[in-house]
Amino acid sequence: MKIPLCKPSISSNEINLVTKTLKSNWLTHGPYNYKFEELFNTKFNTKYSIAMNSCTSALECAIKSLGVKGEIIIPSFTWVSTANAVLNCGSKPVFADVDFNTRNIDLKNIIKSVTKKTVAIIVVHFAGLPCDMSKISNFCKKKKIKIIEDSAETLGAKAINNYTGTFGIGCFSFFPTKNITTTEGGMLTTNDKKVYDYVKKLIAHGIDKSIKSNFWHREAVLPGHNFRMPNHLAAMGYLQLKKIKKFNKARNKIANLYNSNLSKITSKIKIPYIPKGFTHSFQMYTITVEAKIRNKLLNYLKRNDIEASAHFDPPLHLQKYLKKFNKKKLTVTEKLSKQIITLPIFPDMTKKEVTYVTDTISRFYKDNN
Ligand SMILES: Cc1ncc(COP(=O)(O)O)c(C=O)c1O
Repeated sequence: MKIPLCKPSISSNEINLVTKTLKSNWLTHGPYNYKFEELFNTKFNTKYSIAMNSCTSALECAIKSLGVKGEIIIPSFTWVSTANAVLNCGSKPVFADVDFNTRNIDLKNIIKSVTKKTVAIIVVHFAGLPCDMSKISNFCKKKKIKIIEDSAETLGAKAINNYTGTFGIGCFSFFPTKNITTTEGGMLTTNDKKVYDYVKKLIAHGIDKSIKSNFWHREAVLPGHNFRMPNHLAAMGYLQLKKIKKFNKARNKIANLYNSNLSKITSKIKIPYIPKGFTHSFQMYTITVEAKIRNKLLNYLKRNDIEASAHFDPPLHLQKYLKKFNKKKLTVTEKLSKQIITLPIFPDMTKKEVTYVTDTISRFYKDNN
């Protein structure tokens, strides 16, 4: 049995609508962008959503919309986009440690990283579990620190009563491994009209559509990008988004099966932790094992046709080009990166496939004891 790390669920409905949209001759930003954005607003209780070509672009737009440069606190335990966006916008990433159980940046580690130059923080909701946003939001409000949420991995999850992406400027990803997909794609969410108006211009060549002296006039008011999502991908996103509840329910069911099977193997395997009142969207299913056997287990899974991985090893502050931005030892992050294993998860994963993975892990422990 061959098991991929992820497999997007794309039905004939999406394929038919994408084909129809392609045949409509409206190939760039178009009517489906508005439909997708409106549905996003409704589903996740946000005022404004802007569909774009990736979460990385959304992160850059979010940072630029703050209109300030300085130090931006980010976890080191994340994908490189979080740091790249900071650097590409002319600010300095300050790496913070995370909590071992949630794998998320927390208030204690944020406080340790704040300096007079701190202008913003990018929280990363790791693997589908939201950060403790009420504590972080209260602190940031007092300190006048802006919040950006890298919610690439956490579509449809709640921190207590609120969805991720509603505490600051939200940035979501629709890369094929994510909770919904548009192949490549992303979304920025905000409740601030000024941010919305600015980002709408920024992603479309800096053109201000409200300025028009005649029908051919295009007034460019800032050095913009072309970060737009094309109409046919927005159509795909629109249909995918309608299924988010179903997808996340399936992911949670798979996670529960993993939890129950793995708990029977050995207490050395630590299953994901979900704090009370939080929901998890399980974009990834991660466990921790003892550091001394982690690599061996990953290789064993690979030899048995199971596509497991380790998110994130190495963490960002140990990446060659980013080392110079960090002076402190991030003990928990370094420990986690050597113990973490990402197991396959996708909505259509069968019970048989989950059992094949957990049986393989069980065999590994028997052979190595
Ligand atoms: C935490 C995090 N941030 C940002 C990204 C980048 O998303 P995209 O590929 O849509 O640019 C990812 C995707 O892997 C991610 O996991």
